[in-house]
Amino acid sequence: MLNVTDLGEGTPILWVHGFPFASSIYENQLAIRSVRHVMPDLPGFGQSRPPIAETSGTVSMDTYARLMLDLLDHRGIDRAIFAGLSMGGYICFAMARLAPKRMRGLILLDTRETADTEEGRKGRYDSIEKVKQAGVKPIVDSMLPKMLTPRAPREMRDRLREIMSSASPDGVIAALGAMATRPDSSPLLPEIHVPTLILVGEQDPITPPTDSERMAAAIPGSQLVRIPGAAHVSNFEKSSEVNRAVATFIAKV
Ligand code: MLT
Repeated sequence: MLNVTDLGEGTPILWVHGFPFASSIYENQLAIRSVRHVMPDLPGFGQSRPPIAETSGTVSMDTYARLMLDLLDHRGIDRAIFAGLSMGGYICFAMARLAPKRMRGLILLDTRETADTEEGRKGRYDSIEKVKQAGVKPIVDSMLPKMLTPRAPREMRDRLREIMSSASPDGVIAALGAMATRPDSSPLLPEIHVPTLILVGEQDPITPPTDSERMAAAIPGSQLVRIPGAAHVSNFEKSSEVNRAVATFIAKV
C-alpha cells in the first residue's frame, strides 16, 4: 500500500517525487488552490513500506508508472496533470508512453529526457554497492549539496536532509537500478500534445537549464520557466515562484 496525500478539489495533479525524496518534497505546493493534489510516496520512500517487489525481480520506470496509473484508478481519477521532479519526470515519461490519454497536462521540474550515459550508469551501480554496505546516509551526504543553492537557509537544508533520510535502502537500490536502465525519452517529446510546463532552477547542477531548453524545443507548444536562485529542487527552494508559474499554467489547462 502506498502512502498518499490526497487534498483539495479541482483538476487533479499527480505529483511524482524525485530521488531520494518522498511526497513531502512537494509540501509547499499544497498552497496552490483549486486543484486536487495527489502526492504518493513511491515504494520504499517516505512512509510507503515495504519497498517494491515485482515477480521478475527487476524494477523499471514502467513499474513505477504502472503503480501511479493504478493509484489513479483506485482514486477514481481518469485524467490528471502529471507532474514530476527529476526521477519523477522519468516516471511521467513512462506514464505518457503507457497511457497517453490519461495525461491532461504535464509539468516537468528539474528533469531531463535522456537516458544515463555509460559513466552515469556505472555511478548508479557503485551507489547500489555503497547503499548495501553503509545504508542511505552516504547517498544523502553526497547529493544534498547539489540540491539547494549555498544561499538556502539552514532550516530548509535540515528539512531536506530529513526528507531524504526517510528513504529505505531497498527503495533507494530499486530506484537506482530503474534509473540506470531507463530508456531515452527523446522520441516521445514531439508526440506530447498536452499543455506542458517545464520548470528549472537556474543553478541546477544535476539537470541544468540546457536540459530543459532542449526539452522545451522538442515538446510542441511547451512553456519553459527558469527559477532564479534555485538549484535542483526548485519547487522546494523557491516555492512561491514555482507555485505562481504552476497556478498560471493550471488556469490554462
Ligand atoms: C532526482 O532528483 O530524482 C535524481 O537526482 C535524478 C537522477 O539522479 O538522475
